[in-house]
Amino acid sequence: MSNPRVFLTGITASLLVVLVYINIHALQNDAGRQRGTVTTNHNAFYRILQQSIGSGGVRGGSADGDGDRDDANEALDEEDTARVKEIQEKIPQLKDFLGELDYNIHRYAEAVEQTLDEEKSSSSWTNVQVLNAIPRKRKRRTTTNQNNAQSSSSSSAAATPTNLNILLLYADDWTHHTLSSFHKTIPPNPILQTPTLDALASDGVRFTHNCVTTSVCWISRATLYTGQYMSRHGTTEPCCWNGMDKPQQKLEKAPTNWDRLSVYELLSRNGYHVGHAGKWGVYLPWPKNVHFNVEDDGWHYRQIGDKLWHITEKNEADALRFLVTRPRDKPFFLNVAFFATHAKDSDARQYMPQNASMSLYENDTIPIPPTGTAEAWSKMPPFFTESNEGRTRWRARFKNFTLHQSMMKNYYRMATEVDSACGAILEELRRQDALNNTVIIFTTDNGNFHSEHGLADKWYPHQESIRVPLIVRDPRMKEEMRGTTNDAFTDMAQLYLDPMAKEGWRTEFFYEHPVISKASYIPSSEALVRKDYKYMYWPDFDYEQLFDLVKDPGELEDIFNSTDAEVVAVRKEMKRRFEELKTLVRSDELVTL
Ligand SMILES: *[C@@H]1O[C@H](CO)[C@@H](O)[C@H](O)[C@H]1NC(C)=O
Ligand SMILES: *[C@@H]1O[C@H](CO)[C@@H](O)[C@H](O)[C@H]1NC(C)=O
Ligand SMILES: *[C@@H]1O[C@H](CO)[C@@H](O)[C@H](O)[C@H]1NC(C)=O
Ligand SMILES: *[C@@H]1O[C@H](CO)[C@@H](O)[C@H](O)[C@H]1NC(C)=O
Ligand SMILES: *[C@@H]1O[C@H](CO)[C@@H](O)[C@H](O)[C@H]1NC(C)=O
Repeated sequence: MSNPRVFLTGITASLLVVLVYINIHALQNDAGRQRGTVTTNHNAFYRILQQSIGSGGVRGGSADGDGDRDDANEALDEEDTARVKEIQEKIPQLKDFLGELDYNIHRYAEAVEQTLDEEKSSSSWTNVQVLNAIPRKRKRRTTTNQNNAQSSSSSSAAATPTNLNILLLYADDWTHHTLSSFHKTIPPNPILQTPTLDALASDGVRFTHNCVTTSVCWISRATLYTGQYMSRHGTTEPCCWNGMDKPQQKLEKAPTNWDRLSVYELLSRNGYHVGHAGKWGVYLPWPKNVHFNVEDDGWHYRQIGDKLWHITEKNEADALRFLVTRPRDKPFFLNVAFFATHAKDSDARQYMPQNASMSLYENDTIPIPPTGTAEAWSKMPPFFTESNEGRTRWRARFKNFTLHQSMMKNYYRMATEVDSACGAILEELRRQDALNNTVIIFTTDNGNFHSEHGLADKWYPHQESIRVPLIVRDPRMKEEMRGTTNDAFTDMAQLYLDPMAKEGWRTEFFYEHPVISKASYIPSSEALVRKDYKYMYWPDFDYEQLFDLVKDPGELEDIFNSTDAEVVAVRKEMKRRFEELKTLVRSDELVTL
C-alpha cells in the first residue's frame, strides 16, 4: 500500500469536501443568475471516497483483505489521479474555507459512514414498486363503497422497470403566486423571478389549484408525510415548541402511527436510500429509517465553524452532499425542506436574504394586492381584532407602503435564492445522468397573506393561505403533458399520468385548522372549499361565512345571510356536505378523501 494514491486517499475526504464546497461557493457567488461550470466528476470522486474510507482515511481502519476496496483502488485510474492533482492545485485558493472544513469533513465523513453501513447491512434489496407511495395529500373520494380505495403500498400501478428516484423540493410559506410562471398567465406582476422552477414547470405539469388541508408548517408537513388529515395524524403541535425539545418529550407527544405511515418509512422499507435536508417542523420519532438527516430550522444566518451560513445556502450544500454520497445502486428519496421564505419571526427585519441578492428587485415596485386595504380588513369577522396574530404580523410587515416594499422585496429575494438552490440541485442530477430516472416535485407547506384582508402569514381558509404551488416533472409523463397546467384540486400521479382521470375528479375538500394559543390570537377555522363557493366556519365563535368565488375571487363579500334563493340553496347544501366530510375525517372509518 505504498502507492502514492493511497497516501492521497488519506486526505481525499478533505479534498472532496473542498471540491464540493468550491462548487457550492462558485454557484452561490454567481448570485444564482449564472451557474459556474462545475469541474467535478462525482462518480470518480465517489470511488475515491470509498477507497478513502477503506484505507483508513476517515475511519482509521485497515485496507487489507477487502476485495471491494481493492476494486476501488483499481478504479482509481489516471483520470482520477489527474483530478486529485487538479484539486491540489486549487488548495491555495481555499484558505477562506478552511475553518468550515473541519466541521464539514466531520459531517461529510459521518454521512459517508452511514451510507456505507447501510449498504453493508442490506444485502438484499426488495424490488417492490412504491410509486403509489409518493406523498399524497388526499386520495380519491370513495365515501359509499371502497371499490376505488387504493392501498398506499400497492405495487400494481407501477409502469416502469425500475424504481424512480424521488426529489421533493419543499419550500416554506410560498403562496400560489410566489412563482413567476404564475404571473405569465395572470398579469400584472411580472416582477418575481423563479427561472429554475419555471423551466421545471415547462418540462412538467404545474398545478394551479393545489391546496393544503391545514395551513401551518408542522401540520401541513405531517399531512404531506403521512397522507392523513390533521384529525387523523394528530400532529397538532410543532417540534420543539413550548420547550419540548427533549427527545423523550418529543416521543411522548408523537402520534403513534408515524413509524408505519410516513413516506420516509414506506420508501425506506422499499429499498430507497432516504434523505432529509432542512426543516422538519414536526416531531421526529422515527429517525432510524432516514439514512441522511440534517435538520436546519428557524434561522436565516448562523455561524457554523468559521463561516456565516445563510440557511438556503446550507440547505443546498446538504442536498448536494446527499446526492454526491448516495449509493448509486439504489433509488433515493430526498426531501430538500428549505426554510425560506419563512420569516424569522423574532427579528424585526423578518426576511433576511443573502447579500448577493440585495440588488435584485432594487428598483422594482411591488404591487399592493387589491384586497390589501383597510376596507378589506374591516370586512373580516368581528372577532378579528388588532390582537389577532395575522394582524400583528401585518403591522410588522405591511403597515405602510415603504415597509411593505422592503418586506416583499426581501421575501422575493429569498424565493429567488431557493429557486437558484433548486437549480444547483437539478444541475447535480443532470450531471449524474439521473434526470430521466427521477420524479421531481416542487411544492410548499402553506401559503401566505401578503397584506390581503389586512393580514400577514397563514392559518385561515382564504385562498392566499391554502393555495400553494405544485410542479411535478416525471420522466414517465407523455410528451404532450409537458409544459401544461392543470386546474384540478390536486391529488398526484393520476392527474398527470392519465389525463382521462380528470373525469369525475374531486370538486371539493374539507379544510381544518386548530386554535393556536387562544381564539383571540389564532382562532380555529374549518371550511368546505369548492371552486365556485367557499363555506367557512369559525368554531370558537360559532360563526359562518359564504363566499361566491366566481363573482368575488378576493373573498371580500360574505353572502352567508343573503336571501337570494340560489345562495340559500347553496348554503344549505354546502353546510350538509361540510358536516358529512367533517364527520368522516374525524371518524375511524377507513375512507379515502
Ligand atoms: C452583508 O453585508 C453587510 C453590509 O456590508 C455586512 O455587514 C455583512 O457582514 C454581510 N453579511 C454576510 C453574510 O456577508
Ligand atoms: C437602481 O437604480 C439606481 C439609481 O438609478 C442605480 O444606481 C442602480 O444600479 C439600480 N439597481 C439595479 C439593480 O439596477
Ligand atoms: C413605516 O413603518 C416603519 C416601521 O414601523 C417606520 O419606521 C417608518 O417610518 C414608516 N414609514 C412611513 C412613511 O410611515
Ligand atoms: C437516461 O439517459 C441515459 C443517457 O442520457 C441513458 O443511458 C439511460 O438509459 C436513460 N435511463 C432511462 C431510465 O431512460
Ligand atoms: C350574518 O348573520 C349573523 C347572525 O345574525 C351575524 O352574526 C353575522 O355578522 C352576519 N354576517 C354578515 C356578513 O353580516
